[in-house]
Amino acid sequence: MAKDLAFTCSACGASTSKWSGKCDACGAWNTIHEDTGLAAGPKKTSIGGRRGKTLKLTDLATQEAAPPRTLAGVEELDRVLGGGLVKASALLVGGDPGIGKSTLLLQAAARFARNGLKVIYVSGEESNAQVQMRAHRLGLEKSPVMLASDTNLRDILTTLEAEKPDLTIIDSIQTMWADHVDSAPGSVSQVRTCAHELTTFAKTHEMSVIMVGHVTKEGAIAGPRVVEHMVDTVLYFEGERGPQFRILRSVKNRFGPADEIGVFEMTGKGLAEVRNPSALFLSERGEPAPGSVVFAGIEGTRPVLCEIQALVAPSPHSQPRRSVVGWDGGRLAMIMAVLESRCGVPFTGLDVYLNVAGGLRITEPAADLAVAAALVSAREDAALPKEAVVFGEISLSGALRPVIQTENRLKEAQKLGFTSAIMPRPPKGTGAAGLDLREMQDLAGFVEQVFGARQG
Ligand code: TYD
Ligand code: MG
Repeated sequence: MAKDLAFTCSACGASTSKWSGKCDACGAWNTIHEDTGLAAGPKKTSIGGRRGKTLKLTDLATQEAAPPRTLAGVEELDRVLGGGLVKASALLVGGDPGIGKSTLLLQAAARFARNGLKVIYVSGEESNAQVQMRAHRLGLEKSPVMLASDTNLRDILTTLEAEKPDLTIIDSIQTMWADHVDSAPGSVSQVRTCAHELTTFAKTHEMSVIMVGHVTKEGAIAGPRVVEHMVDTVLYFEGERGPQFRILRSVKNRFGPADEIGVFEMTGKGLAEVRNPSALFLSERGEPAPGSVVFAGIEGTRPVLCEIQALVAPSPHSQPRRSVVGWDGGRLAMIMAVLESRCGVPFTGLDVYLNVAGGLRITEPAADLAVAAALVSAREDAALPKEAVVFGEISLSGALRPVIQTENRLKEAQKLGFTSAIMPRPPKGTGAAGLDLREMQDLAGFVEQVFGARQG
């Protein structure tokens, strides 16, 4: 009984019912102390008074070997993973239904299998025949990936235990079903239990697991959000449906930088990687048009240029519309407020639409100045110089603040044929990469200098 074991050795953790000078278990002297119990909370919920074993502690200086990684050989995927797939890691790939998660993971499975991993692909949504059909379409039928079509977690874990794969793909976590939980597949408790069982199994069996999770905008199905804290890496696959780009973004990564993106294009033969996303995002740009601005951004560790478009039109409604795609609506409201109160550019009675071209979603504050430029350009019906990129953060006072990695942004712009940059004063020692820098101090000065001729 726990309450009889009232003495514990602080050296080895052994419990005894009476005090003695020497520990019988490890032979140490003067290490037996009386137990005071662990928690004083109510017995039902607390862990109780009984001692466990002492943990082995280590210090920060000791270096343990980094876990081995396997490269897929697809640069866009490997970069998002932080430099390849880490052994015994758990990943979650979320995204809207139909965006291409199964396609991406089947292609990744084939790549990892070819690079020496034993890979099992478990589909709970499609039959083996359907997955094989997709593999044929992708030209992957010869890859040594093993398939299973099942949803019973108990059977899946038994199979994995016997087969000992290096990587298992679970498509999707919402279809999995643990028979000891009394609720329907896709419910929060099922999703959470299955994900927990799978990640624990992965950690104890040195297997990596990639789980697919659907997110619905309505939140009708338990989203993969409940799983996010359990896994090492969370990737989101996003983009507009239709023949467009797909962006794989790491929102959490214990083994690499977060916010890294990989850009893919959905083709008739699966996803093709896009090595130079800036060129792609800008490819449909024609002559300079009012409301269109090229933003020099940074996504993760890589500079990406993209086009920000704005449309400003008189509103027929008493409450004008503000519609944003690819950027934060609250941030747009803030920039319009700064334009209105610090620069005398009001938007009352005007509908405002803002769009980041190509399905990219920008989260950087560095896009502030580009957004402001697009808004003023659309409102004044005056195009910006075609050869200029724009970036910079705007503070509430209307001052412009320098942003990180200015030089990388300039280099990328130079590479794509731009010759000037409209931006805040850069930190000392920043190279101009051959661009003509138009340094701005505040937003009012920017509006004055760039659109001044049109004002008044
Ligand atoms: P899928 O991977 O099934 O999406 P998810 O698993 O995220 O629900 O792919 C969905 C879409 O991709 C589907 O509408 C068809 C299209 N697709 C292609 O355009 N090319 C291809 O080679 C494949 C396999 C799919
Ligand atoms: Mg699917």
